[in-house]
Amino acid sequence: MDRFVIRGGKPLVGSVECARAKNAVLPLFAACLLTEEGCTIENTPLLEDVSTMLKLLRCIGVKVVMKSRAVKITADGRLNPEAPYDIVRKMRASYYVLGPLLARFGDCRVSLPGGCAIGPRPVDLHLRGIAALGAKVRIERGYIRAKAKVLRGNTMMLEGHKGPSVGATINTMMAAVLAKGETVIEGAACEPEVIDVANFLNKMGAEVTGAGTPIIRINGVNKLHGAIHSPIPDRIEAGTFAVAGAITQGKLVINGCEPRYLTAVLTKLRDAGVRVEWDESSIRVEARERPKAINISTAPYPGFPTDLQAQFTALLSIARGTSTITENIFESRFLHCLELNRMGALIDITGNMAVIHGIERLEGAQVMASDLRASAALVLAGLAARGQTEILRIYHLDRGYENLEKKFTRLGADIRRVKS
Ligand code: EPZ
Repeated sequence: MDRFVIRGGKPLVGSVECARAKNAVLPLFAACLLTEEGCTIENTPLLEDVSTMLKLLRCIGVKVVMKSRAVKITADGRLNPEAPYDIVRKMRASYYVLGPLLARFGDCRVSLPGGCAIGPRPVDLHLRGIAALGAKVRIERGYIRAKAKVLRGNTMMLEGHKGPSVGATINTMMAAVLAKGETVIEGAACEPEVIDVANFLNKMGAEVTGAGTPIIRINGVNKLHGAIHSPIPDRIEAGTFAVAGAITQGKLVINGCEPRYLTAVLTKLRDAGVRVEWDESSIRVEARERPKAINISTAPYPGFPTDLQAQFTALLSIARGTSTITENIFESRFLHCLELNRMGALIDITGNMAVIHGIERLEGAQVMASDLRASAALVLAGLAARGQTEILRIYHLDRGYENLEKKFTRLGADIRRVKS
């Protein structure tokens, strides 16, 4: 298992290019199952999760050809509509094949994902969505078995007790595009990744309107065709870079991003005293001193994203004063706090709230990454800390950030990967 060794304390300075969004690319790949014609997803980030999704498609029998960053996916010929446990347990987003396989083949088996380091991750809303379209859904020996001779459009409320679900909204939308008649998804997730998938489906001949609002309308069509699409920029990667600039008291320009999808995040950085400016596709971040303490509550889009909570925890661990972070989406997503405390941070967890008593400086230490965004938080902490930080199990990071250490090195960080 590879690890990072970081010698902290260097301000990051320069410009960096943002990759395309992992959380858009994964459902976009799955959407390609909806047609037997070839589809191409361009500018794909080279990530572990991307490889896992392509492995799953190949396992279903789909042809996948990757030229540089353009992935051509052709779902024709004999296909096996099943997502095995071996792949799904590695990556929950494998569940994105459920909607497309059901719509295309009328019968599919998708393994239940099992445990997750960030807390309970139920799939009831995914099942509610496809059941509302007329699918018979059963759990058989750890697998979801979904069957439907025909899917029929319906009106449904997809919001759960934690709010809307990104995954269930996208899955149901992908199933509904080939259903008979009109589907109305109320309580839909409004995340930019939902809009991106809807745009791609429309390029394939689907009729989806309202994506990005809580009510999505889908007019079912008989058939979809091939299309070419370039995913939206990764707002979480852009936000991670912004925090890197702030925590190291550096000066960064983040190019190739969509700041309009980060308003809640950039506003919080400003509240923390960081100088932040943006235009249509780039963000400038400059910090000259420790941040001010602030309070954050995670929420569905357009609220503050849970996927940037860990990175902000690292930043606020060196704030002037006491901050709070309330995690409302995945309430036990706090494992990074225990590791940050090993670096000298003073973070108390009570229920779904972290109370962060800011200290002047973190100290380098050996720490363990527990999930993707927790890993990113530890890297940021290591970049700011005095002395050497060693981060174990960085395979979590490789799932969602491409060559992060190279990008940081170009900005002046002392970070290296030690292979084992
Ligand atoms: C997506 O997960 C992202 N993953 C997550 O990013 C992100 O944290 C999350 O959305 C929230 O923004 C991908 O896009 C691949 P949800 P998803 O369904 O779709 C509850 C990262 O680090 N819920 O929107 O699985 C759920 O427990 C990852 O990149 C149900 O109750 O999240 C949570 O409280 C981690 N029943 C809330 O809804 C369901 O059937 C939102 O989850 C589904 C979800």
